[in-house]
Amino acid sequence: MKSSNQGKSKSRSIFVCQQCGKEIPKWLGRCPDCHAWNSFVETRVTSSRITRRPHSTGNGLQELSQVERGDFARFNLGFAEVNRVLGGGLVPGSLVLVGGEPGIGKSTLLLQVSAMLAENNTVVAYISGEESVNQIKLRSERLGIGGKGIYFLSEPDLAAVVECLEGLSPGLAVIDSIQAMYLEDVVGTPGSISQVRECTWRLERWAKQNSVPVLITGHVTKEGAIAGPGTLEHIVDVVLYFEGEPFSSYRMLRSAKNRFGSTNEVGMFEMGDSGLAEVANPSQVFLSAYREGTVGSVVVPTLEGSRPLLVEIQALTTPNSFTPPRRIANGVDFNRLLLIIAVLTKRAGLKLFNQDIIVNVTGGLRVNEPAVDLGIASAIASSFHDARPISRLVALGEVGLNGELRGVSQVERRIAEAVRLGFKSCLMPELPSVIAGEIRQSFRAADINLIEASSVAEALKLGLTRDSKIQDVKGRNAERR
Ligand code: TYD
Ligand code: MG
Repeated sequence: MKSSNQGKSKSRSIFVCQQCGKEIPKWLGRCPDCHAWNSFVETRVTSSRITRRPHSTGNGLQELSQVERGDFARFNLGFAEVNRVLGGGLVPGSLVLVGGEPGIGKSTLLLQVSAMLAENNTVVAYISGEESVNQIKLRSERLGIGGKGIYFLSEPDLAAVVECLEGLSPGLAVIDSIQAMYLEDVVGTPGSISQVRECTWRLERWAKQNSVPVLITGHVTKEGAIAGPGTLEHIVDVVLYFEGEPFSSYRMLRSAKNRFGSTNEVGMFEMGDSGLAEVANPSQVFLSAYREGTVGSVVVPTLEGSRPLLVEIQALTTPNSFTPPRRIANGVDFNRLLLIIAVLTKRAGLKLFNQDIIVNVTGGLRVNEPAVDLGIASAIASSFHDARPISRLVALGEVGLNGELRGVSQVERRIAEAVRLGFKSCLMPELPSVIAGEIRQSFRAADINLIEASSVAEALKLGLTRDSKIQDVKGRNAERR
């Protein structure tokens, strides 16, 4: 086999932990960092491979002020959501890792992106170490992709892959997946840390030398145990995670690292029969089944990256005197739920000790920021008291252990999204005096009532209707009849 490394290759052995990637010069039975047993595998490395890092600019020192900003034209990937997450398109020569659980849709996303680039006359090399040409053909037919301009190769040997790439000189290379690739002169099975890392280095060098962007996929397991993208994050330029709940058709593309843009952007997709489609107005999608004035249901303006997103939080409390009460959290953090229940019990006087409590975020979303605390608390209280939230209400705020409400970031952006979707009241913590005037002023013209509360107890009084409950439900039923 042709060695991937030219020059004087003085090789030596190191031992690499297959769990966490730690390198040591001598074999040990147990990794001193991650404490995994028998996880070290001998790996031959060549000194040139270690010392020669690729540089796209020269080697000499330059004063930063004298450096001319290289203007690179970014590739437009067709999907506006992907472009935004990348910071405005794909940078030539960049190595982008798309990580995600198996089956989430990484291959589908990259095939669709390849097709869109190919349509714009870019030659695309699509290399799969996992699927055969027939499988890809089937998938592309399902996605309505003709395949002109996409050159497919099913090959796990990376040295052969690089040779093919040199021959083709594509404008974009896709490698699916990095765990399926191997180099013959590296010890370890495909997917082991040493293989994955060396393969990524090889691709990084190829991308920089040829100024061609390379997209690679990487599987992450729930535990992140196998040589996951975690160990590659420092090699690649951009790390994107493709995420979603298994039962939901919505997928989010998040950026965890980006050398060419902010990591605050999130792209949203829906997986359908003919592949992934962008979701341009996610708030509307997630509220499509929301019914105004439902007991136990509160809308919260969350932020996904820097983009506001309205989600519906539902809670159901049911009496249970026989077994220890159960708490179920779908889409919110379980420990956060316990904290909120404790605060509601101790600081707002809700007797929840004999109640089973289920909290659910609709649409299969996960919301992890503390800004949703008040939404969860209001939904639980609404269900417990059988009291509806006041008309067209959104709630936001972090709940403290003393029952106080704490401010959240980017309040304006969140309220603006609520206004955009026609909500009329926003239950929230008291605004700090420095910004209060400005924020109240900016929403004066908008038809929204900012209801400020200092504690959870006060917020529940202001945000939930009293006595409206039972007879209202009866009334509505009568109306329907
Ligand atoms: P895939 O891209 O193979 O996932 P990954 O590469 O991340 O492992 O996507 C696999 C899933 O996507 C599979 O379960 C079927 C589903 N899917 C659709 O729902 N619609 C489609 O058009 C395609 C191509 C796949
Ligand atoms: Mg795949």
